[in-house]
Amino acid sequence: MTSTMRTLTVLGIETSCDETAAALVRRAPDGMGRILADVVRSQAGEHAPFGGVVPEIAARAHVAVLDRVIGEALAEAGLRFHQLDAVAATAGPGLIGGLLVGLTTAKAIAFAHALPLIAVNHLEGHALTVRLTDGARFPYLLVLVSGGHTQTLGVTGVGRYERIGTTLDDALGEAFDKTAKLIGLGYPGGPEVERRAAEGNPARFDFPRPMIGADNAHFSFSGLKTALRRQAEKLAPLSDTDIADLCASFQAAAVEVVGDRVERAIALWRARVGGRAGRTLVVAGGVAANRALAARLGEIAAAAGFDLLVPPAGLCTDNGAMIAWAGAERLALGLVDDLAAEARARWPLDPAAPVAAGAGVKA
Ligand code: KG4
Ligand code: ZN
Repeated sequence: MTSTMRTLTVLGIETSCDETAAALVRRAPDGMGRILADVVRSQAGEHAPFGGVVPEIAARAHVAVLDRVIGEALAEAGLRFHQLDAVAATAGPGLIGGLLVGLTTAKAIAFAHALPLIAVNHLEGHALTVRLTDGARFPYLLVLVSGGHTQTLGVTGVGRYERIGTTLDDALGEAFDKTAKLIGLGYPGGPEVERRAAEGNPARFDFPRPMIGADNAHFSFSGLKTALRRQAEKLAPLSDTDIADLCASFQAAAVEVVGDRVERAIALWRARVGGRAGRTLVVAGGVAANRALAARLGEIAAAAGFDLLVPPAGLCTDNGAMIAWAGAERLALGLVDDLAAEARARWPLDPAAPVAAGAGVKA
């Protein structure tokens, strides 16, 4: 694949979950990127009463605001549609109603303005963000931790992902969100659990650390969640101190599990590809915003002789810039889609990866 020598300006649209987002990104011929505008409208307030994302509400809310969000992004960048080189939208994985809203809007723009369309995998957006923010070079080992996904992947190029480990049950962000819900904190739970954990005693409750020491690099969080629920029920009604200690003890267990699994992933990745493993550990996805996790992964990276790269928090959680950037990277390689591109609720980054044992695994 040859890379283009043109500067590329791409509109990116993200509607796979509960953020309606649009951004404009520019990619220089040398591969460096710049964000020209980045507008994110969170629907969190609309889902909060339900303690999680309600797909029907999400789809309707995307329809209501997407046009305006795109207009704001263009205005912020001082650009009009005819000045773009392509339009990119998340085509999966995610909630199908929201995906259809974003992808159909992108198709309409592409058709009306004769622009190439790029149907982006949301996970590829997270995976490539660090090339936009830090100019990271391939290869790197990616720790992808979000509300829907928990995986480690070897990344050797655009569109080239080898899954090393995945979760056998809940995603890490989901475990944070369920913890928050169980103890009466708001949605999304991750940031609130982290805030409360900072005031709590991580040693008060000895929660299980599932999978630690296991031969593979897979993750599991459901046993941890069950232990937390039992403890919360035993203590009810919960004092502020109980809540802080539960959060701190949960976070300590979760961070220890992820740390152990990532150490294992580094070893497996090195054993698999040797010199092609690189020396960079990248953390991406919403939970990468968690400072306790980033600190532990920093220690693990250093011990393995790796550099740790974590995009800024606003680019770890869902946003349009990551979709625009993945679109620009694909466009530079001539990888465009046609207007028949379909939205896909499931879309693994490494379709060839074997199903993990015992898994109700998410793609
Ligand atoms: O990547 P993202 O915005 O959406 C998905 O693609 O899933 O990730 C959202 C997830 C939520 O589960 C949220 O609770 C979690 O990331 N999260 C955090 C933190 N900030 C966001 N989890 C732990 N600590 C945080 N500071
Ligand atoms: Zn995401």
